[in-house]
Amino acid sequence: MVDMDKIVSLCKRRGFIFQSSEIYGGLGSAWDYGPLGVEFKKNVKHLWWRDNVHLRDDMVGLDAAITMHPKVWEASGHLASFSDPFTGCTVCGRHYRGDHLAEAIWGSKWFESLKRRLANEDDAIVALQKWAAGDGKKLAPNLALVQRPEVILSHWKTKRSGYRFVQSEFGELLDGIACAPDGTPHNPCPNCGGQMSEPRPASLMLETFLGPVQETATKTYLRPETAQGIFVNFDNVLQASRKKLPFGIAQIGKSFRNEITPGNFTFRTREFEQMEIEFFCLPGTDEEWHQRWIDERFAWYQKYGIRKENIQLREHEKDELAFYAKRCVDVEYLFPMGWSELEGIANRTDYDLKQHSNFSGKALEYFDEESKQKLIPYVIEPSAGADRSALAFLVDAHHEEEVRGEKRVVLKFHPELAPIKIAVLPLLKKNSGIVETAKKLTTELRKRWHSVYDDTASIGRLYRRQDEVGTPFCVTVDVQTVGDDKSAADGKVTIRDRDSMGQVRVPMAGLPAVTEELMAGQWAEVFREHGVSKE
Ligand code: GAP
Repeated sequence: MVDMDKIVSLCKRRGFIFQSSEIYGGLGSAWDYGPLGVEFKKNVKHLWWRDNVHLRDDMVGLDAAITMHPKVWEASGHLASFSDPFTGCTVCGRHYRGDHLAEAIWGSKWFESLKRRLANEDDAIVALQKWAAGDGKKLAPNLALVQRPEVILSHWKTKRSGYRFVQSEFGELLDGIACAPDGTPHNPCPNCGGQMSEPRPASLMLETFLGPVQETATKTYLRPETAQGIFVNFDNVLQASRKKLPFGIAQIGKSFRNEITPGNFTFRTREFEQMEIEFFCLPGTDEEWHQRWIDERFAWYQKYGIRKENIQLREHEKDELAFYAKRCVDVEYLFPMGWSELEGIANRTDYDLKQHSNFSGKALEYFDEESKQKLIPYVIEPSAGADRSALAFLVDAHHEEEVRGEKRVVLKFHPELAPIKIAVLPLLKKNSGIVETAKKLTTELRKRWHSVYDDTASIGRLYRRQDEVGTPFCVTVDVQTVGDDKSAADGKVTIRDRDSMGQVRVPMAGLPAVTEELMAGQWAEVFREHGVSKE
C-alpha cells in the first residue's frame, strides 16, 4: 500500500491538490483542487450523478442552499447533539478527539520509540531509565517518566528488575509512566507526553451570521450535511415531480464541520463535498431497500476500479447506531492509515420527516393510492463523500513498476475517472506536417473527450508524464502518418494503452470509433483487430 506522503506529493507536483492558502503558511483543514484535480473530482461526481440519477427512473436531483433556517438544525437534532468528544493537552495545547486518543497514543512517535527500546533490552527498568534519559527527553519531554524518572520507577524496581514487558502489559505501563505527582494516572499527550484534559463534547457546527451587522444579523450554521436540504424540500419535490414511492432525491454539495482533528490529507477536512441520496419508501419495504442500496453502492466503487481486497462493508454495532436509525452499514476502504469510512448507508426510518413536520407545522406526508391513507415514508440514506471517494480512487490507482530498469509511476484510473482521456503527442516536433496533423487531431478529439497536445519532451518522457497523471490513451503522430519524400502518408496513428503499454496502429478517421471501444475497456478486441506491439 502506498503511503499518504507519496500521494500528497504527487498531487501537488502534478496539479491535483494543493494545500489551501499555502503562500500564507497553509490551512491544515482545507485543500484546493488544481487543474487535474478539478477534472478528476468532477468525473467522480459526474459518474455518481449519472449512475444514481440519470440512469434511474426513481430518482430526481436537488441543489439546496448551504445556509438554511436555524430551526432546521433544532429539528434535525444537530444543535443538541452533533458533537465529538474533545480533549486537549494541558501543557502543549494539542487537541484530539477523545474517541481517537488511545489510537493516537499507541501510534505516537514517543510510544513507538519506547516500545522499540523495551523490545531491545532484557531488563524493563534499565530500558525505561535509558529511554527517559535519551529519546524520551526529545520525544515526550512532558511525560511523568521523563520529568521524574526516579520517583516513577521506584515502585517498579523491586517488582520488574530483570524482567521484560510484554505487549499485554502496555496498558499498565502507560498508567505507570503517565501520572500526576500524587500518582493518579492520566492520559498522556501523543505529542509531548503531558497531561490530557477530561474529554468533553465539542459542537461540530460552524456558526455564521446572515446580515451586515452582526448584532442584528440572523445566526445560523453552514450545513454539516446536505441531507437536511432534501428533507425540508420533500413536499416541494413530491408536488413538482409527481413521483410515487419508492423514489429518491439526490444532491451533491459542500458541507462544513468544525472537526477537532482534521487530517490524513483530504480524508477529514472542515469543508468537504458530499454526495447524498434520501430514498423514500413505504414502511415495511425499508429493510429490503436498505439491503439493495448497500449492495449497489458497494458494487459502484468496484465498477470504477477499486480493487475488491481494498473495500469492505462494516455493520454498525447497536451501541454506535443513532437512536433513530434501524440499521447502518459503512462502506470502508483500506486507506494508507487503515480501514476507514468511505460512505455510510443508513435506514433513518421516518425520523427526519416527522421532526421537520413537528418543528415547521407543515405535514410532510405521502398519500398512498393503494391503501388510500396518508403516511410518512421511511428513508434509506446512502451518504458518500466526494473528496473521500476521490482519495480512495487515487490511492487505489497508484502503482509503481519497473520498466527497462527504470521506475514507472502510473495512476491506473478507470478511463471515465481519468482527468485527461487522450494525449496527442507528435513524434518529431520539428516536422511541421506532424505537428499540424497532431494539433488538428487534438481539436477534433476535444469535441468528445478531454484531450491535450504535448510536445515539450521526448516521446519516452511524455509517456511517463501521462502515466503519472493516469491518462489512459496516448496517440502519436509520426512520419508514416504524414509521409515524406521516400514514402506516402498512411494516415494512421499509434494508440498506446497506459496499463499494458501495448500499441495499435489505426487509421486517423477511425480513431473516434476505436477510442469509444477503448473507453469501454475493449482493448482485447481492438488488439485483435489491429495487431499489437509494445512501447
Ligand atoms: N447525512 C449523513 C451523514 O452526513 P456522515 O457519515 O457523517 O453521514 C457521510 O457523512 C460521508 O461524508 C462520510 O462517509 C464521508 O465520506 C463524508 N465526510 C463526513 N465528514 C467528512 C469530513 N470531515 N471530511 C471529508 N469527508 C467527510
